[in-house]
Amino acid sequence: MSYANLENIQVSYDGKTSILQNLSLSIEKGELVSLLGSSGCGKTTTLRVVAGFIEPQAGRFTLSGKDLTRCPVHKRNFGLVFQSYALFPHLTVFENTAFGLKLRKIPSSEIKKRVDAILEITDLSALAKRYPKQMSGGQRQRVALARALVIEPELLLLDEPLSNLDAKLRLSMRVEIKALQKKLGITTLFVTHDQEECFSISDRVAVMNRGIIEQFDTPERIYSQPANEFVARFVGFTNFFEMERAGGNSYRIAGGYTVSLENTPVAGEKITAAIRPEDIVLAETGGPNAIPCTVEVRTFLGRGYQYKMQSPAGELVVSAGRDNVFRTGDRIFAALPSSKIVVC
Ligand SMILES: Nc1ncnc2c1ncn2[C@@H]1O[C@H](COP(=O)(O)OP(=O)(O)O)[C@@H](O)[C@H]1O
Ligand SMILES: [Mg+2]
Repeated sequence: MSYANLENIQVSYDGKTSILQNLSLSIEKGELVSLLGSSGCGKTTTLRVVAGFIEPQAGRFTLSGKDLTRCPVHKRNFGLVFQSYALFPHLTVFENTAFGLKLRKIPSSEIKKRVDAILEITDLSALAKRYPKQMSGGQRQRVALARALVIEPELLLLDEPLSNLDAKLRLSMRVEIKALQKKLGITTLFVTHDQEECFSISDRVAVMNRGIIEQFDTPERIYSQPANEFVARFVGFTNFFEMERAGGNSYRIAGGYTVSLENTPVAGEKITAAIRPEDIVLAETGGPNAIPCTVEVRTFLGRGYQYKMQSPAGELVVSAGRDNVFRTGDRIFAALPSSKIVVC
């Protein structure tokens, strides 16, 4: 069994609509796992179950082999950081950070030692006597992180902790969080709707959709081997084809054209395959895996063009550079490189 385990969790807020449906997730010790999904898919709800703010209608949450499903929030030694920093305005950085330790009745000499150490690690020592209103958003969020870490949590829970920060700060903070998490070896559950942020920070990612996990895997595998059409669309595949096996690696698509695939599925005569817009290659002449098409709409995107094309296999969306520019109405060819086609 893994370090932290959600097993068949079911949550409904009103007793009718199911928000989490039989959700299971396992996290290894020291791992950073993310929940990724669009707004409303149930990420915060999942985190609330782990934190102990809501009791699931069914299922179990275990940590280190102990069943904590019905253990109250204050008895779980978890660090929590949310989107809003929720610092106490009348307390200094030091006092804010020390708060959880005071609550746990730790002797003040020990508190001083631990708070000093964590402020050092989070690069806040120089700000120890400041009040929240005297600091930037990034600094405040760092205090929230220090406050969560100082209790030496068995689990660190982060719910969109960077979404109130500006773009540049988000980038540097996510590197800091990752470095800190690895250095301290803290098992972490991170929630975000931002794919790039999620992929850059996570050991493994759970892609969520309407209360279920569609795929739980490394960022690399989710990006290059999406488990199904939902995940494929989520990570940027826009062109989908129904295909039928024509023999060997060869598959027939609508319009009677055949394309060859590199990674053919073991079973299935009929499959759905997908390719990203930037992986389709446009050319004036045909070639391997090329299908004829007509440029319908061209959109300038700055670093290149996006084309909407009509082909016998249906509509295609293609992103291309500025070297070879095609015009509306041009009859050209779209090549689908075998290595870039995924089966989902
Ligand atoms: N306290 C609540 N009472 C009723 N419905 C809620 C409550 N909190 C969240 N929901 C609903 O549960 C679903 C999942 O919400 P949430 O877990 O906050 O999603 P996410 O964090 O992925 O945006 C949404 O449809 C939301 O409206
Ligand atoms: Mg949320």
